[in-house]
Amino acid sequence: MPKNKSFLQPSLVFSGNKRFWAGELADEALLLPAGARVWDVFGGSGVCSRVIKDARPDCKVVWNDHDGYSDRLLHAAETEDLRRSLLRMVGFEGCQNGGTRFRAPIKGALRDEVCALFRVHYEKYKFFDGLTVRRWLSIGACNEPLDPLLPPAGLYARVPRSPLRVDAALTWCDGLVVEHKDFRDLAISRGDYIILDPPYLGTYVAEYSGRESLKILKSCRDLMELCPFILFGDASISFWYELLTEKFNPRFFQKDGLITGYNGKSRSEVMFSNW
Ligand SMILES: C[S@@+](CC[C@H](N)C(=O)[O-])C[C@H]1O[C@@H](n2cnc3c(N)ncnc32)[C@H](O)[C@@H]1O
Repeated sequence: MPKNKSFLQPSLVFSGNKRFWAGELADEALLLPAGARVWDVFGGSGVCSRVIKDARPDCKVVWNDHDGYSDRLLHAAETEDLRRSLLRMVGFEGCQNGGTRFRAPIKGALRDEVCALFRVHYEKYKFFDGLTVRRWLSIGACNEPLDPLLPPAGLYARVPRSPLRVDAALTWCDGLVVEHKDFRDLAISRGDYIILDPPYLGTYVAEYSGRESLKILKSCRDLMELCPFILFGDASISFWYELLTEKFNPRFFQKDGLITGYNGKSRSEVMFSNW
C-alpha cells in the first residue's frame, strides 16, 4: 500500500479516479528502474501520479491534467469559503421528513440568493469551481459544471457538512510535473513508462462514444508499442484482452463491482501492467 494514505483521496471529487488501485500501483512502482520517467497520460485527479511519486520519489512523474483539476485545487480555500456560505444559506442533505433522506429543492427567493452568491464569488475571485458546486447542489451524477453567470436549473440542498481538505489540496502537486495537453502532444519517448486510463468505451459520455473512442484506442496502442504501460479499463474492453495478451503479455488484475457507472450498474474494473 502507499506510504502516505492521504494521497488516496483527492480533495475535490473526481468521478472515475483510480484510488482503489493504489495498492497495486504502488507495488508496480517498485518495479521501475531508478530515475525512470512516468507519464500519467490521462491523469484526471492525479491519484495515479501521486501514488507512484510517493512510492518512488526518485522517479520523474508527469501528471497530464487535461481537465484543469490542479487549478481547481489551487482555489480550494475559496471554494471552501463558498461551501460554508452555501451551507448557511441552503442547508445540507439531511434527515428530515420523519427520518427519510430529504433533498430540499432550492426555489424562489432562496434560489435568487444563491445565484447572487455565485456572482459575488466569481467577481471576487475570478474563479468558480462549477464542477464541485454542481456536486453540492444537484442530485444524480452530473459532470456539467455550473456556470456562475447563468440561471441554474434543478438545484437541491445537499452541501456537504465536512470542510474541503484545503491543506491537502495545496500540496497535491508537490514533486509532480504538471502538464495540460492533449495526450497526443506529450513528449513521451522510448524508455519512458506510461499509465493509460483513457476515457473510452466504458465512459458514458457522448464525446467519447463511437469514432472518437476508437481513435483514442488506436493512439493508446501506438503508445503501448513505444513504452511499458499500465492500462486501466473495464469489462467492456474484453475484446482487447486477446490482442493485449498476445502482443504485450501484461500481468492482469481485476476488481469486481467497484465502479458504478452513470447507468447505475456496477462494472468490473481491470488493470494490465507490463512494467
Ligand atoms: C478515466 S479518467 C482518468 C482518471 C484518473 N486516472 C484518476 O485516477 O483520476 C480519463 C481522463 O482523460 C482525460 N482526457 C480526455 N480526453 C483527453 C485527451 N485528448 N488528452 C488527455 N486527456 C484526456 C479526461 O478529461 C479524464 O480526466
